[in-house]
Parts: sequence; C-alpha cells; structure tokens
Amino acid sequence: MIDDGFRLLPEQASTHAPGVDLLYYFLLGMAVFFTVLIATLIVYFSIKYRRGNTRVDRTPGPDHSFVVEILWMAIPLLISMVIFVWGAALYFTGYRTPAGAMEVRVVAKQWMWKFQHPNGRREINTLHVPLGQAIKLTMISEDVIHSLFVPAFRVKRDVLPGSYATCWFEATRTGEFHLFCAEYCGTNHSRMTGSIVVLEPADYEAWLGGGRTNEVPAVAGRRLFEDLRCAACHMPGLASEVTPVRCPPLQNVYGHKVLLKGGQTVIADENYLRESILRPGAKIVDGYEPIMPSFDGQLDEEQLIQLIAYMKSLAVP
Ligand code: CUA
Repeated sequence: MIDDGFRLLPEQASTHAPGVDLLYYFLLGMAVFFTVLIATLIVYFSIKYRRGNTRVDRTPGPDHSFVVEILWMAIPLLISMVIFVWGAALYFTGYRTPAGAMEVRVVAKQWMWKFQHPNGRREINTLHVPLGQAIKLTMISEDVIHSLFVPAFRVKRDVLPGSYATCWFEATRTGEFHLFCAEYCGTNHSRMTGSIVVLEPADYEAWLGGGRTNEVPAVAGRRLFEDLRCAACHMPGLASEVTPVRCPPLQNVYGHKVLLKGGQTVIADENYLRESILRPGAKIVDGYEPIMPSFDGQLDEEQLIQLIAYMKSLAVP
C-alpha cells in the first residue's frame, strides 16, 4: 500500500529528491524572509508616520543616493544568480541520464501507462524497478500530450506524441509510490494514475523472471525488420535475396554522427531513427537518393520502439 500519511512534501524516495527539496526550502525561506521584512516595515512606518503624530521628522529625504541604488541592484542580482546557478545545476543532473542506466520503455495513451522492461516484460500502470539502480525512461505518447509525474522521486516530464522524451531516477527506498499524469489529457485524465514499486535488486530479478516470457524488443524488432523487407535494402547480408546496396547500412549508426546531403550532420539518436522510418525524406544521408517509402501510419509506437531497439543493438558503443 502507498503510505499517504499527512506530510508537507511527498516523501523523498530518489537520489534527486533531497536536492530539489533543499532548493525549494531555500526559495520558501527567501520568500518568507522578504514578506515578513516588508510587512513589518509597512506596519512600522504606518504607525510611526500616522497623521497627527507631530514628533516625527517630516522633512523630505535625499532624492538620490548612489550607494542605495547600487545596493538595490546588487543584492537582488546576487540572490537571483544563486537561485539560477543552483537551479541549473539541479536541472542538469535531473536531465542528464547517467551512463549504465537501465532503460524502460514507456508508451502513454488515453488513459494508461504501458511499460516494457529491457528483457521484454510488460506491465500496465505499475512499474517495478530495482532499488539503487539508475532507471532511464524513454517515453512517447500514442495520442495527446501526457506527463509522467512521480512526486516521491521529484520527477515530472511531458510525454509527447511524435517524439521520444527521456527522464531518469534512482530510487533510494523500497515501497510503492504514486504515479500521476500531470497534463490534462481528456475525460479520464484524473484516473490516469499508477504506481512505481521499488524492490530490492534480488526481488526485482525474481519478479522479472516471474512473468510470461516476452520477446526482447530488439529480437521482435529484427523480425519486423525482415517482415517489412527493410533488410533487403539496408542489410543485404541478412536478407535472403542479394540486392545491391542502395540504402545506408545500419550497423553502427545509432549514437554516431551522420553526414547528410547538403553537409549538415546529425547525431543518430532515437528521434532521428524514428523520423527516418516515418518521414524518410526529411533527412537524406549524404550519397544516397530519397527512395525509401514512408512507414507513417503502418507502424504503432510499440513496433517503432522494437525497430529502433533492433537498430540500437547493431551499434557498437
Ligand atoms: Cu494523460 Cu493526463
């Protein structure tokens, strides 16, 4: 069961959470400090300079003070720079997935969360993860914009149709934690909830092995690759028939720089591969012709993930 006892902030259950909370408390402290300071001065001066009080000095003050002007620029600048640098540092650690993270695929749709583990095991609305291991979520939506939000991990990221978004977390305590959709996505948005179950690594391994055996995404992707006859052109060695190479070979593409027609280069990440499957004409590899047919509308998100997983498996890191 999820522990929903009263607390001011959700419990801290990821490596990211304490840092986020500390910044939050700093901002809150600043706001309280200045609110109290200004409110106190307002009350104090209102009383001191009330009408009829003749014992105060009412001669006009100086109309210009260089020192005061410097101070009221320098102090807010200093404070906002502290907030900026601190926030940016947290942002970067929150967005940059550490090397060696375990990748979980997420497909969101109205109104459910679909997860797939590296070994192929699938689940819906519940995600089991091991304790103390960085988990990378690669997420896409089948329809509208959703947003994955795990308050206890201080992780929230929009999940978009048409493009992969990623986020990561490392759980620091076992238990079950709320998962919400944080973007209004239609009638049952408020019921697009679930939970993250954090297990000891050994328990996670046992859990992983316990389900129906599912196909590893890269293996499913390889079959799809052959069924769609991609292999005939992109990987003549793999196909039964021998065709001259008219298409860029796919070995070692993922994660590498690709030179495009016109001299531009792109890094072949998942979004590049996805675009090249759906809109092959968008980025033509240098030295090739735009002859590939589009697969837009013929593949669902899960199949695209499988194809990309297969292409990733062809890359040597
Ligand atoms: Cu999905 Cu709100």
